[in-house]
Amino acid sequence: MTSNKTIVNSWNEWDPLKHIIVGRADGTMVQAPEPAAERDWPEHGFPLGTYGLLPEEMEVRANEQLDNFVKILESRGVRVDRPTPVDFSQPVQTPDWKQGSMFGCMPPRDLLLTVGNEMIEATMSYRSRWFEYLCYRPLLEQYFKDDPNFRWEAAPKPRLSDRTYKKDWNIKFNALSKEEQEQTARDEDFITTEVEPCFDAADIGRAGKDLFIYRTATTNRAGVDWLTRHFSNHRIHMVRFLEPAGSHIDASLTLLRPGLALSSYERVPLEPRMKELFKKNDWEIVDCAEPSADGYAPLSFCSRWLSMNTLMLDEKTVCVDAKEVKQMEQLDSLGFEVIPVPFSDVNAFGGGLHCATADVYREGSCQDYFPKQIQGY
Ligand code: NVA
Repeated sequence: MTSNKTIVNSWNEWDPLKHIIVGRADGTMVQAPEPAAERDWPEHGFPLGTYGLLPEEMEVRANEQLDNFVKILESRGVRVDRPTPVDFSQPVQTPDWKQGSMFGCMPPRDLLLTVGNEMIEATMSYRSRWFEYLCYRPLLEQYFKDDPNFRWEAAPKPRLSDRTYKKDWNIKFNALSKEEQEQTARDEDFITTEVEPCFDAADIGRAGKDLFIYRTATTNRAGVDWLTRHFSNHRIHMVRFLEPAGSHIDASLTLLRPGLALSSYERVPLEPRMKELFKKNDWEIVDCAEPSADGYAPLSFCSRWLSMNTLMLDEKTVCVDAKEVKQMEQLDSLGFEVIPVPFSDVNAFGGGLHCATADVYREGSCQDYFPKQIQGY
């Protein structure tokens, strides 16, 4: 039975899941070009500079898989809410810029960060995603009415003017060799400048008192700083991985349960101290299994590492994309009950099972899973 009483509360990625938001594929766009995102998919009808709706037959299939995922969650006693899409094909603007289209609302994880009884609407760092919070407002308004303890927050909306982006960064990046591109990750040379705080909620991994924030193209150091000041009762760990132009922690580091995390074996952590912290606290970081795909799926900007983009229902139960057979086998051998969820048709709409969800309520409280800290980390 799902509970009707609304409680906003979630401290980590693994406590028993009771209430969640699952995105929708409706009206998702190959978004119009902007400084932070330029799509160039000539072989699939979207050469550089063009934009438009993702094909209708793809959208239908994605929504079927999302609806099926909702049924699976509900059959496990999880209450599920859905966002309200807006017309993403409309141009949008602020006094600083005009943008040819919005994006979509399949991945609520990108936008909503739940820490305890607080949900923060992230700044986002793409112009096409600046107004995406509107899709979640009907839900957040309702939670605010229903749960007197819910703390509803929005991070300062960034201006995203031309000062927020490095000029011609994409042109320079695209001309680099693979090795040179990797060096940009080591050098933290991403498209965003440090003019104002920017972060996507999906760049944050939650483990009770400790929050792991992935420094990426979507989360700049000012964004890490804003989160550090905001969550002053938490320990904030800025982490980096070898992922050029990277974004979103949940395809590089997946926190599975106390003491166990998965990491993408190609995206090595760039801070040895991160490994040290995990080791000192008896956490094991296991290399994830070989993903099923070789590269990017058609019209998808998400990598094959979506294989590790899993959703925990509790410490022992994990939802995994049904095509990721090796990943399921590995998690099975690590002692989990694995729920296969067909999801590959959703990937082009903005991610995997973790991306497609945002926690509202997991039973549990704020615990310290890393009591032995490392000086200066
Ligand atoms: N941008 C990353 C994370 C996706 C969830 C990737 O494509 O692997």
